[in-house]
Amino acid sequence: MFSANTYQSRRDRLKKDLKSGLLLFLGNNEVGMNYAGNTYHFRQDSNFLYFFGIDKPGLAAAIDIESGREILFGDELSMEDIVWTGAMPSLKDLAGQVGVREVLPFRRLLPFVKRARKDGQAVHFLPPYRHDNMLWLKDALNISAPKQKGAASEAFIRAVVAQRAHKTAEEIVEMERAVNISGAMHVAAMKAAREGMIEAELAGLVEGIAVGGGGHLSYGIILSVYGQILHNHYHGNTLRKGQLVLGDFGAETAMHYAGDITRTFPVTSKFTTKQREIYEIVLDAEVSAIQSLRPGLTYQSVHLATARRMAEGLKAIGLMQGDLDEAVAQGAHALFFPHGLGHMMGLDVHDMEDLGEKYVGYSDGVQRSTQFGTAYLRLARELEPGFVLTVEPGIYFIPELIDQWRRKKKFTEFINYPALKKYRDFGGIRVEDNVLITDTGHRVLGEPIPKTVEEVERLR
Ligand code: GLY
Ligand code: MN
Ligand code: MN
Repeated sequence: MFSANTYQSRRDRLKKDLKSGLLLFLGNNEVGMNYAGNTYHFRQDSNFLYFFGIDKPGLAAAIDIESGREILFGDELSMEDIVWTGAMPSLKDLAGQVGVREVLPFRRLLPFVKRARKDGQAVHFLPPYRHDNMLWLKDALNISAPKQKGAASEAFIRAVVAQRAHKTAEEIVEMERAVNISGAMHVAAMKAAREGMIEAELAGLVEGIAVGGGGHLSYGIILSVYGQILHNHYHGNTLRKGQLVLGDFGAETAMHYAGDITRTFPVTSKFTTKQREIYEIVLDAEVSAIQSLRPGLTYQSVHLATARRMAEGLKAIGLMQGDLDEAVAQGAHALFFPHGLGHMMGLDVHDMEDLGEKYVGYSDGVQRSTQFGTAYLRLARELEPGFVLTVEPGIYFIPELIDQWRRKKKFTEFINYPALKKYRDFGGIRVEDNVLITDTGHRVLGEPIPKTVEEVERLR
């Protein structure tokens, strides 16, 4: 936990920004995996963590801006609970640690919110994503679950995004810690991988390092010899000579700040010439995108410049052709690079995605593209000091997509389909680092994680 002062000043700023109303924060609960008592790993809601810091299930909180009351709702442990869980700090103590003086039993929350509504006070809530919280909101506000996202308070969302988007020095310390644990996970995978291993052996190894770091994984591990499948969570393939391993995984710290790192390496100790050519294009794009980062630039422009740079590399080896400005403007590069260059990071790996990319990644001046590829960009708006984001270009050879585009004769002036035949079983390459936008430029977070061809081959 940070100091009580941190949480108090975050809440004070919310009150100032919202000016009136009742702000509702629903914490997360345990979720049964196959029966109620056998639960998934507990993860507190990030907005609750940010403003109230307490990492326990069964809690909610409210801020009544008019009266100034800040209340934590939850139940103290009974003796029966303590027999199973051991003694724990009381809620009263925990509340005190985050500067909250008032604690009420959870059952008091529903009448509290209903009373506020009856009195004509606006009840502000954030878009829910857990079904138990949706059921509770239905009881409290009489809004059906499918309508709740749309009925969430835009003013509340905007005020939360305005704070969480800018990381403070103490948050950056946590994020560097997350990146360093994530880096150790990648180095371990690069050292351990051997021909004949199952992907799951490496996935198990790196998950252990995340847990050993005191936290957990920050998202489901992507680790595959089929790196062209973007969110590939299957780990049953055997590592074969001539293949690449794409690993996209990271840790969150005990305080739940995330790391999100990708590295790609060959199953044998050296890249083949073909692999090395593509790897150098991706790495050069990643490094030059990072080098360009500074406040004031839109991330959409960095995304497009990176697509253009990779298109040049692909033209140099004969896979793309023609006028590359036109190719990128029309979206031909998305055959190879069908996702966005990056996203915000923080307490969530895709930071604040629950609140809506419209508010987090876009602005009035920067609208989402509708074009395949660029439409998936999660962060597009002007960069500001304090933003932490990922830079994660990639080049993939997706046989199904290549076949479809070739059949449709899509972008034949920009794509050399005959030359692509030799790349059908290539897989994919992505390189991803986590970067802080500073007042004057940027800083890559954490200790450097091997990524040049020489560094990767030395580790292999
Ligand atoms: N780890 C998923 C992503 O990079 O967005
Ligand atoms: Mn990633
Ligand atoms: Mn990412």
